[in-house]
Amino acid sequence: MDQLLIVKLARNTVVPLAYVFATVLFVIAGYFLAVKTQSSMLFCKDGNFKQFLIKNVPVVKENYLPTVWGLNGYAHTVLATVFRDITTPMVKYEREILTLKDGGEVAIDWRYPKSDVPQNLLTVIILTGLTGDSQSEYVRETVNELFEKGYCCIVFNYRGRGGIKLKTARTYSANNIEDLTEVLKHVKYKRPNRPIAAIGFSMGGTLLGTFLMSREQTENKHLITGILISVPWNVTQACKNAEGSWLMRKMGQNLSHHLRNVVVKNKDVIFDQDKNSSLDYNSIKQCNTIREFDTAYTIKMFNYTNVYHYYEDATLSNKLHMINVPCLCLSAADDPFLYLNDIPVREADQHNNVAILVTSGGGHVGYLDKFWPFTNNNFMLKLIQQYLDAITMNKNYEKLDKF
Ligand SMILES: *[C@@H]1O[C@H](CO)[C@@H](O)[C@H](O)[C@H]1NC(C)=O
Ligand SMILES: *[C@@H]1O[C@H](CO)[C@@H](O)[C@H](O)[C@H]1NC(C)=O
Ligand SMILES: *[C@@H]1O[C@H](CO)[C@@H](O)[C@H](O)[C@H]1NC(C)=O
Ligand SMILES: *[C@@H]1O[C@H](CO)[C@@H](O)[C@H](O)[C@H]1NC(C)=O
Repeated sequence: MDQLLIVKLARNTVVPLAYVFATVLFVIAGYFLAVKTQSSMLFCKDGNFKQFLIKNVPVVKENYLPTVWGLNGYAHTVLATVFRDITTPMVKYEREILTLKDGGEVAIDWRYPKSDVPQNLLTVIILTGLTGDSQSEYVRETVNELFEKGYCCIVFNYRGRGGIKLKTARTYSANNIEDLTEVLKHVKYKRPNRPIAAIGFSMGGTLLGTFLMSREQTENKHLITGILISVPWNVTQACKNAEGSWLMRKMGQNLSHHLRNVVVKNKDVIFDQDKNSSLDYNSIKQCNTIREFDTAYTIKMFNYTNVYHYYEDATLSNKLHMINVPCLCLSAADDPFLYLNDIPVREADQHNNVAILVTSGGGHVGYLDKFWPFTNNNFMLKLIQQYLDAITMNKNYEKLDKF
């Protein structure tokens, strides 16, 4: 090849490539500088708990950089689901079927602590999102991480979830704590003298928040602390958002299909036992949104007159003052199920024991990091782990209990 040709080639390919590369770098750098480098903000009344978090949970002061590949909250949410599903190994649980007092059954999946690391004092119970179970990707990731650190993890699969059949027509709701209460009593019986902490993801956070506010918890102190990840603070608004844009409608549709599938799979149990059922199978089968499903099914099971009563009842944002143990919450400003306005930061600022960490990005149970999202040590996991370590160390939970 003569030299001229080489020069020409270089000019025609290398130079434009370098240009494209520089532009991409520039865009990414700009993205970080302009959009995503706002630091996280911690909302909590200045007191023991806030000081405890600032001192012992370093990640609350860190700048969280959401992955560049998640251009907005929606994309981040979808990417996180897909990436995690690929990269996170399945968890080997020991399954236990618990029969509830009305004859219903739930699967409790245990991941007992590793024997070759010092065992942690704590038992950690995980409450999944609306259609999750113990093999949902965010659950696997959390359990794997805590297992490595010597925690005993339990996943409570709601009725009809985790691959088991219903025994009665009753499934679950975002705010009925009866099943959770029975599960916690059972866990306490199996592992006595071990304090229990709970992590609730998304709707699991609604259930956990409701439990933390309950008389059952106030009187019996079942849980020493709760962690709420991407909780839909206002359920009415979250369901509205799931019917908003085209993309969100697709996500809502997917969730409602998973919900109605439980009814479809258990048709024999739900309808054949009770010929006089007030439920209408065909309308349930046609549900395309979460609200339609709740209208046709959930509110009938849990005796609400209409779906908005149910949603307002399940909404946590105006009830934070009823929580009586330390409770750490993580919410992203770009969570597609939330409006920033719905995160009750002002309420949190008035209470000693509820802290909300608001990040600029992260989506809904997303929280992938930086450029390389295939790591299992993302911001959400770091927060969970640092917080649980800190609260167990020297039995700090006993000291924090006295507000
Ligand atoms: C939740 O959102 C709905 C719809 O935006 C609103 O009407 C309601 O007042 C909100 N509830 C609370 C407790 O903020
Ligand atoms: C819902 O989305 C998941 C991926 O997140 C997919 O595997 C599943 O098939 C979808 N289900 C329905 C009913 O659309
Ligand atoms: C079925 O429902 C009707 C009215 O809703 C009631 O009168 C009747 O007693 C019920 N039958 C049974 C077997 O429960
Ligand atoms: C709903 O009402 C029925 C009839 O009064 C009752 O049997 C059932 O236990 C109630 N369900 C819940 C979840 O409270």
